[in-house]
Amino acid sequence: MPIRMTLLAVTAGLALVASLGSAYADDKAAAAVASDENGKYADKDGNPTFKIQEDGTVDWYTYSGFRRFNSDCFVCHGADGAGSSFAPALANSLKTMTYADFLSIVAEGRKNLSAGKENVMPAFGNNKNVYCYMDDLYVYLRARAVGDLPRGRPAKHEDKPPAAKEAEASCMGG
Ligand code: HEC
Repeated sequence: MPIRMTLLAVTAGLALVASLGSAYADDKAAAAVASDENGKYADKDGNPTFKIQEDGTVDWYTYSGFRRFNSDCFVCHGADGAGSSFAPALANSLKTMTYADFLSIVAEGRKNLSAGKENVMPAFGNNKNVYCYMDDLYVYLRARAVGDLPRGRPAKHEDKPPAAKEAEASCMGG
């Protein structure tokens, strides 16, 4: 009897850890714009977010993220983040993934060796074309996941803010 109780407690504990691990959920309300720093938007927690106006105009970073995604991610993750037989649909993944987790997976990569598969997410921590645009990628995929951003190239976007030009020059040049 005592052994059984212990097992039950351990199982309950594991279930709790598992549920805590997946508790994060993003949605439109959480992603709402709370601040604007030179055309770069953040939510109430200070994490980067997208802005989509009523006529469909997206902020610069969301548009830039679309372009970066199409040059460096889409071959594995599918058009518009819809996934492929090889890599997960990031338009779903970001519904439950924090900004911090996104940054670390993209920088460090990941390897899933389960079920005899060898699906590898490459590490992009040394690739300027990716790490200089991490926030762009994040807000684009966040907009796809929770912001109703339609598939395809955003038709209209805000102008590139001077701050984006400066950040790009110093990151790409440095
Ligand atoms: C060579 C193919 C490939 C490329 C290119 C690639 N990925 Fe991945 N990515 C994968 C695979 C495969 C996985 C799943 C790995 C696993 O299951 O551990 C993955 C997983 C991820 C995850 C975790 C998803 C989840 O649901 O847990 C994120 C986030 C991610 N990739 C972002 C990106 C971004 C952003 C880019 C472009 C800068 C990119 N990936 C480019 C193959 C790729």
